Amino acid sequence: MTTAMIKSATPETIKEAADIIRQGGLVGMPTETVYGLAANALDGKAIAGIFEAKGRPSFNPLITHVADTEEAQLYGEFSEGALTLAQTFWPGPLTMIVKRCKGCPISELVTAGLDTIALRVPAHKTARALISTSGCPIAAPSANISGRISSTTPKHVAEQLGDKLDIILADGQSQVGLESTVIDMSGDRPVLLRYGAVTAEDLEPYIGKVSMIEKADKIKSPGMLIKHYAPSIPVRLGAVDVKKGEALLGFGQTKFMGIEGGGFAKDLPEESYKNLSEAGDLTEAAANLFAMMHALDNNANQGIAVMNIPDTGLGLAINDRLKRASAGAAK
Ligand code: TXA
Ligand code: MG
Repeated sequence: MTTAMIKSATPETIKEAADIIRQGGLVGMPTETVYGLAANALDGKAIAGIFEAKGRPSFNPLITHVADTEEAQLYGEFSEGALTLAQTFWPGPLTMIVKRCKGCPISELVTAGLDTIALRVPAHKTARALISTSGCPIAAPSANISGRISSTTPKHVAEQLGDKLDIILADGQSQVGLESTVIDMSGDRPVLLRYGAVTAEDLEPYIGKVSMIEKADKIKSPGMLIKHYAPSIPVRLGAVDVKKGEALLGFGQTKFMGIEGGGFAKDLPEESYKNLSEAGDLTEAAANLFAMMHALDNNANQGIAVMNIPDTGLGLAINDRLKRASAGAAK
């Protein structure tokens, strides 16, 4: 463990961190709520690096931090109510879940394949400077190892993730000290998914009654409340061949994989064959996972055969998500 890369936030170190973000690296970013583990939200491989660093056994969707409401509207569809909240509470400790825009360029790993996106405009001056200097939307979960408490000082970040980050921008203790309030504005009625500094009472004058998720459920696991993406066709894991009508989601070499009844998987048409990583690289595979599942979930295919993926490192999270997809798909 090293604390060598903690650097006080100055225009120079912010520029350095912004370059790291643009190049696909990982940055410890101060915000007013807690420190974030930040990466370029447009870069799937960088996002895979976040999950690798956190040691998350599963892919939960991440918050995308943006400069202002105008930028947020490039990525998400804002209802009138959502827009009012943005105008009232941003910048600040409020995260809104809205529908992803058509053609939204944010990596599908950030949103875990969902058709919704979590957006926030942070109030912290260094976070804002990092977003504007990098020119990228920044995905950042709280900067802690999975299952441990969030970091409110640069020292906490260094202790948990010091050896996995390229730089930690230090800017004192997080003022709020609690993760942002999360409100789901993507449905008919607003639902509060996570309690934070902005309360239901603060929100209700602008959007009317806010429903709350059950406290008991929330304590059990916030992740359990998220709908997970699953393809509309069956997903078959550990495939060593391709059945008739199936598409193939490959991993590594597929040269010799056969199709039942004759032919080779490698000759399948584009809409029926994707390879998560020909080189067998788990980071690349994680970055491609949701986009490729979406791409194969089309009318040309009756199912998706998925090759075996090693159950180590990021492979654990990939397999966790594939297992859910295979259990959740229509028969
Ligand atoms: O204060 C914060 O929000 C900090 C700082 C760094 O901004 N970030 C943070 O991120 O707490 P994270 O990843 O630890 O928490 C994000 C929360 C999770 O509970 C996640 O499930 C939820 O937001 N979330 C993200 N996208 C979602 C979506 N599309 N639908 C439902 N929930 C979503
Ligand atoms: Mg967290």
